[in-house]
Amino acid sequence: MEEKLQTLLREKRTFRPPREFTRAAHVGSKAIYKEVSSKRLRFWANQARELTWFSKWKKVLEWKPPHAKWFVGGRLNASVNCLDRHIDTATRNKVAILWEGEPGDRRAITYWELYRDVNRFANALKSLGVKRGDRVAIYLPMIPEAVVAMLACARIGAPHSVVFGGFAAHALRDRINDAKAKVLITADVGYRRGQQVLLKRNADQAVAETPCIEHVVVVRREEAPSTQIHMEPDRDVWYHRLMADAEAYCKPAVLDAEHMLFTLYTSGTTGKPKGIVHTTGGYMTQAVATTRWVFDLKPEDVYWCMADIGWITGHTYVVYGPLALGATAVIYEGAPDWPDRDRVWDIVERYGVTVFYTAPTAIRAFMKWGPEHPKNRDLSSLRLLGTVGEPINPEAWMWYHRNIGGERCPIVDTWWQTETGGIMITPLPGVTTTKPGSATIPFPGIEAELVDANGKPVKVGGGYLVMTSPWPGMLRTIYGDDKRYREQYWSRFPGKYFTGDGAKRDEDGYFWILGRVDDVLNVAGHRIGTMEVESALVSHPSVAEAAVVGRPHDVKGQVLVAFVILRSGHHASPALLDDLEEHVVTEIGAIARPEDIIITAELPKTRSGKIMRRLLRDIATGTALGDVTTLADPAVVAALKEKYEANES
Ligand code: WTA
Repeated sequence: MEEKLQTLLREKRTFRPPREFTRAAHVGSKAIYKEVSSKRLRFWANQARELTWFSKWKKVLEWKPPHAKWFVGGRLNASVNCLDRHIDTATRNKVAILWEGEPGDRRAITYWELYRDVNRFANALKSLGVKRGDRVAIYLPMIPEAVVAMLACARIGAPHSVVFGGFAAHALRDRINDAKAKVLITADVGYRRGQQVLLKRNADQAVAETPCIEHVVVVRREEAPSTQIHMEPDRDVWYHRLMADAEAYCKPAVLDAEHMLFTLYTSGTTGKPKGIVHTTGGYMTQAVATTRWVFDLKPEDVYWCMADIGWITGHTYVVYGPLALGATAVIYEGAPDWPDRDRVWDIVERYGVTVFYTAPTAIRAFMKWGPEHPKNRDLSSLRLLGTVGEPINPEAWMWYHRNIGGERCPIVDTWWQTETGGIMITPLPGVTTTKPGSATIPFPGIEAELVDANGKPVKVGGGYLVMTSPWPGMLRTIYGDDKRYREQYWSRFPGKYFTGDGAKRDEDGYFWILGRVDDVLNVAGHRIGTMEVESALVSHPSVAEAAVVGRPHDVKGQVLVAFVILRSGHHASPALLDDLEEHVVTEIGAIARPEDIIITAELPKTRSGKIMRRLLRDIATGTALGDVTTLADPAVVAALKEKYEANES
């Protein structure tokens, strides 16, 4: 970990932005932060008051480290907060979702329509035997039914577990089994780059090995009824049939603030993904507070967060935050460059998007498309731009500010994680002076710091990013594995939450996030555990051992490079390399496809048997060795190892 932090610190240049970028508005910022920090719990209680509660909490926080309970004794329902409370106001007739499918189909759904669908689907789930506390898996494309499914689960108190539609059957199977989900909601197909993604086929393959699943609900995404979709009698049921038979109103469950709202699987440092548990009151409070303060949403805004609901950003900033605030949100199903590179800007222009939230990898891709993009597009509706998911390089930040924001839109670089539930470190538009490449300072009510390897606070300089006090949207545990929760997040620096990220802090107290210092990689904004990819590789009959490292990439941030030792009797060939790549894609999904696979005779290990990852990273980036194919000779590995060991001592 320390070695990785030092490497990241060396690589990160100190960046002095041109003056025009630091002149920005300082509108009494210090005062706001100061006031909140002295009355943290009162601030969060005030934010919680923005929600609709059936009954108020008795206590704001109960903290028995590392377990927190927020708004103890309060009762509420997340779907009531996103829907019912708008139905008696003018928001009833407002568009909640402006949806666009990749093939070009469009729908505008008002709050009233969404409310009707959610009520019906909640009843449909009940008719399938789903009860309060039962887990429901959702494996859908970015279609409005995904939002309906999530809110319907929330309405009856059945925690949802959304699995990204890009994951393969095996990844889906493992997540369903870990959560012991009772029902799976999927679709016949989705669309990505003009291709149909056969979700139901993947689901069938997964469900063949998930004894816990009793029913599969299938949304018909294809216009023409598809004859290729297999519907298992008694188990599978069409969404539209269920909806046609369902009652119009479903009384929302009155849920404890600490009732589990959802679990969402994310990659960690072992081969097994972790089911991050979020509860209702605290999560919703942070979702609403951050959506309101960071995006400063007003009734007239058209807000577009490009994230998929398969990730935490899609949960908090496509569904719960914006809907609770009665906002109009754009949801787009497909790839941003399909059928051409104009797609994103066409959507922004057509709907008059005002607030746009995306990942640095997308921004770097836009930059690559060349200065002519966005071409002949009127982007003057935009007033605020956001970024999330990975460190943004100052060049991309400034390009975003100039070319997309027309130099008038503030940029909010927001640092947070699946585990934090909502934004943690971010500028507030009009309040915090930004610096290109820095996520700036913690959101009011959040307490973050850097520590060195011994846990000693680092005021200025590099260190490990930790949270020093609990926050409302924090994960409560890892589903079914509280021991791992304690070990993973709270043991490295006792009493402090360890994020897994390294960062630098400058003289102004600004945070410059460097990225993960553990065995988690960030490829195009997606979190991937090296161990997961390694276990996928060794499950191939020709592989004896594998090690995966990250290599910097100018668009994706990082890509995966795999080092593989073959079993005896197997020989390297282009066909085998292709086969190994495809194997990873079938086990995990296309996001985990290795960019490079290097066959090696040996993996360099330390005397204590640990793989020398720094050496592998140097080989992957070409700094240790020009022509990497020579790793097939054990003598080369041995020589490299010796050289590195000499350097290290
Ligand atoms: C990284 C995504 C730098 C970080 C919401 C973190 C960032 C991981 C930023 C969490 C940012 C996220 N600047 N790095 N603004 N935002 N990260 O769980 O390494 O998918 O630990 O949550 O993304 O990824 P996750």
